[in-house]
Amino acid sequence: MSSKEGTGWLDSAVFYEIYPQSFKDSNADGIGDINGIIEKLDYIRELGCTAIWLNPCFESPFGDAGYDVSDYYKVASRYGTNEDLRRLFDEVHARDMHILLDLVPGHTSVEHPWFQQSMKAEKNEFTDRYIWTDSIWEEPTGCASLRGISQRDGSCAVNFFSHQPALNYGYYKPDPEKKWQQSFDDEGPQQTIEAMKDVMRFWLSMGCDGFRVDMAGSLVKCDEDGKGTIRLWQNIRAFLDAEFPDAAMVSEWGEPDKSLQGGFHMDFLLHFGPSHYNDLFRCEKPFFAGEGDVSEFVNKYIESYEKSERKGLICIPSGNHDMDRLAKTIQGDRLKIAFAFLLSMPGAPFIYYGDEIGMRKVEGLASVEGGYDRTGSRSPMQWDHSTNAGFSTAPKSDLYISQDESVDRPTASDQMADEHSLRSEIKRLIEIRQSHEALQSRGEIIFIYAEKNAYPLAYIRSCETEQILVVINPSDHDVVFPCEYVLKEPLYSFGGKLRVTGEGLCAPARSAGFYKL
Ligand code: GLC
Ligand code: CA
Repeated sequence: MSSKEGTGWLDSAVFYEIYPQSFKDSNADGIGDINGIIEKLDYIRELGCTAIWLNPCFESPFGDAGYDVSDYYKVASRYGTNEDLRRLFDEVHARDMHILLDLVPGHTSVEHPWFQQSMKAEKNEFTDRYIWTDSIWEEPTGCASLRGISQRDGSCAVNFFSHQPALNYGYYKPDPEKKWQQSFDDEGPQQTIEAMKDVMRFWLSMGCDGFRVDMAGSLVKCDEDGKGTIRLWQNIRAFLDAEFPDAAMVSEWGEPDKSLQGGFHMDFLLHFGPSHYNDLFRCEKPFFAGEGDVSEFVNKYIESYEKSERKGLICIPSGNHDMDRLAKTIQGDRLKIAFAFLLSMPGAPFIYYGDEIGMRKVEGLASVEGGYDRTGSRSPMQWDHSTNAGFSTAPKSDLYISQDESVDRPTASDQMADEHSLRSEIKRLIEIRQSHEALQSRGEIIFIYAEKNAYPLAYIRSCETEQILVVINPSDHDVVFPCEYVLKEPLYSFGGKLRVTGEGLCAPARSAGFYKL
């Protein structure tokens, strides 16, 4: 059991996302594993991260890299055993860190025994565990479907890939004409949610600190405003409050105004959904590449921030296993400036493994385990200059995904030895964040300059005891913005300090700075 301490640790958490198959291989089979992660915990702690999100590590046929679970209760043998995972929890806690597992409540693999039972023609305990129509000739409303592989006469709704049948949490407003559509309160959906609570109980009792929840916003079907899904999560929140009040929950939802109502502590801004997150890092002209627009992002952020205020946190990730690597679009000094932003915003920051050294997207790879264009952002971590960049001693051809083969590929060891490296800059930024409450998750934010197609971006972070002005200018030009604050020495500056001019403050080209007011 994790110690009874509440979820206050989120207020100063900096997360590191680990894709287990690509992080560190401890037994030379070419695939990362739990013992490998344990070996590298000190590396993560040294960077300054205090928490981990571990991508799915459960039994699976790996048609979607583990997001197609076939046994929620068992660590996939390629990663180790349940005992190894328990040891990982203990080792994480021994370093004063926390760890979230990835919960995939929306769908399973077709190989899951629940689905195998559900496909049978005769009625059984699992008949209503998934969403089925009454006839193979009818398709489920609002979802794609899987058809023609069961003895049962019906089409089964799928969530993502066609081998991921959708678990049944009901329709928001079942159509009375379609008898097969159930409501959340019907027996099938109620059994599904209880089964998912059992899964959560199992891992929380073993010592995990909570979950990142996959596709959390799409469980109840035909639920346009998310009301049914919010209600579902409130039900789970009540269970957690009663049995595991310390469990931290973060949603892959992308709409904080909804997810936080559902009782999540945090929600991500994502490459999909209404957040304009892509405007910053991944679009034709990203703001952080020096010629983009930040204003729509900021407008949407303020809207979500106001709706969610004090209920929970909005997390901005550097990237994740579903997006292009940050270094594909943002390079050099600008990567450092992007991290100055990520590490000075409210909400817990998430660093995708390898982003701290600027790992690149490996182009031109064949898809691995349902990765498709995501595969190149999931390549094995580059630790040092030994065999396979220190990821694994297996023959190169056995590696889970091919590595970046460029001669100048970044490595963790080089960057740790160089105080001017991206990793060293990130380490400094985390240290500064951790020594100023105003910069942490719950410090307030007020934007003071975020104009259409203009630079810089400026905001003030504050708490009861201090106020910090953050000015971010990834553009190639010195830029002046109106600001009447009197500045003291910067807490942090990269690329030159702000200068006072007749019209306001001037932020040097390619610079970032934090100033105590
Ligand atoms: C989430 C995961 C993604 C997965 C999908 C289906 O978006 O992050 O990797 O493919 O859900 O589970
Ligand atoms: Ca291994």
